Amino acid sequence: MVKLGVNLDHVATIRQQRYTPYPDMLKAIKISEDSGADSITMHLREDRRHIQFNDIKIAREHIKTKLNLEMAPTLEMCEIANQVKPDFVCIVPEKRQELTTEGGLDVKKNFESLKNIIHNLKDSGSLISLFIEPDIQTIDLAKELNVGAIELHTGKYAEANNLDKKKYIEQIINSVNHAHNKSLIVNAGHGLDYTNVKEIARISNINELNIGHSIIAESIFLGLAEAINKMKNIIVSN
Ligand code: PXP
Repeated sequence: MVKLGVNLDHVATIRQQRYTPYPDMLKAIKISEDSGADSITMHLREDRRHIQFNDIKIAREHIKTKLNLEMAPTLEMCEIANQVKPDFVCIVPEKRQELTTEGGLDVKKNFESLKNIIHNLKDSGSLISLFIEPDIQTIDLAKELNVGAIELHTGKYAEANNLDKKKYIEQIINSVNHAHNKSLIVNAGHGLDYTNVKEIARISNINELNIGHSIIAESIFLGLAEAINKMKNIIVSN
């Protein structure tokens, strides 16, 4: 059964907008886990626009499921991961000006520096994952880097019109099969919402979907528990 990783970045976005003590991150973690989250994801961005180091610390101390830390491939972030020891580390590309993570890692161009970053993460004890586009050559390079997992970027699928969606789904299915045959754990995420998640959730051999923005948006109307329940029900009802 495909798992649901709930990304809580935007709980912190609301808090950081006014530097208030609310919404309380620990409460969000507890509600998420009680409502069916299989893991909690936090992206500690270099500009600290939402998640702060303290959120990661609180999460590490209290999470009962798994903590997935998304991070840019920098030595500063390696030090933090080695200190916090998340269950999973997902390495993502990061640009200061972007609204969100716009694409997967350029593994070919950054092969040597990623090798160095992965080496520097060895004290974290975390399962390392690379956030990549659904592309066979990139999957092969990820495998060469000896990571245990990949997360496929579903953004192009999520943003495509109905005609193009089919093409992107095929790419994702081929990528999942290819990576699974190479014994990589395959996760997926980005831009998934209540209307587009089903097509992805029904693909065999996807381990976990990481979803944030749409769940936090829906929680305005339903509350966080119901918003997570609603997403979980869609992804397990395939
Ligand atoms: N996976 C990764 C690697 C991400 O960077 C993000 C966005 O932070 C997500 C999943 C979740 O994307 P969304 O907020 O669009 O659900």
